[in-house]
Amino acid sequence: MDTQDRLQKIMTSIQDLPTIPAVAMKINQLLKSKTAGSSDIGTIIAKDQNITVKLLKLVNSSYYGLPRTVGSISDAVSYLGGNILSQIVLSIGVLSTFEGKGKSGLDRKGFWSHGIAVAALSKSIAKEKKLIKIPEEAFTAGLLHDLGIIAMDHAVPELYKMVLDKSKSEKIPLVPIEKDLLTVTHGQVGEWVARNWELPLNIIVAILYHHDKPSERQGKAKSDDPIVDVVSVADYMSHLIGFGFAAEPEVIKPDPEVFERAGFTEESAEKFAQGLKSSIQAAVNVLNE
Ligand SMILES: [Fe+2]
Ligand SMILES: [Fe+2]
Repeated sequence: MDTQDRLQKIMTSIQDLPTIPAVAMKINQLLKSKTAGSSDIGTIIAKDQNITVKLLKLVNSSYYGLPRTVGSISDAVSYLGGNILSQIVLSIGVLSTFEGKGKSGLDRKGFWSHGIAVAALSKSIAKEKKLIKIPEEAFTAGLLHDLGIIAMDHAVPELYKMVLDKSKSEKIPLVPIEKDLLTVTHGQVGEWVARNWELPLNIIVAILYHHDKPSERQGKAKSDDPIVDVVSVADYMSHLIGFGFAAEPEVIKPDPEVFERAGFTEESAEKFAQGLKSSIQAAVNVLNE
């Protein structure tokens, strides 16, 4: 099979991917229309038992560290607000779509631990550096940044196994191998899936550009959204504190300009990540059990 056949196979197989749960889809549409009130969001969430249970577990975990227990969805809505809740629902919905064992040798548990770590780091960066109005959006973007990896693990496992094996044995990051063997990167494949699911635009750009240098992104639509820099730096930080290896055996260090725009130096990034290790572990424990 030459690279063109492989690309063709990826493009057709990716269309058969599962979609996110109906509840997450509905919330996503509400978010876009911006007309929904918090109580509409609460009513929709409460219809999905699975999501309700996980959501309450998460907001009551030490990751959120709330001063009191949140007992129900309507309580959560009035306490945290519809915007935050809908981002959490979207995240939980996508996690549940790709549960179970990987097919290409990808360690899915490790993969999601990486995603959750990047999510928590992205949110903390967004909050600390005041880069994104709703820091919870950075959580969702961080969780989904490597969507293309799990999508290919699901849709074309035998092809993606070649990429993962080569990355591990030759200690080369995924992107150059993907370009070489498949002609597309996990950022591009993730973008297709995210567009299919009609995810918000800032999440799509974080997925698409998280490994691109500023010079490669220049001039491309919405590629200067701060969420891209936040997720790129969070991705790098996750490797420094031991939450990276399973998803991306070798990490690409972001450009100095990206560090700067996210408000960090390489040294301060490491310090920041170390300080968040235990709260990240708490989020991983709840979401990846
Ligand atoms: Fe990645
Ligand atoms: Fe990553």
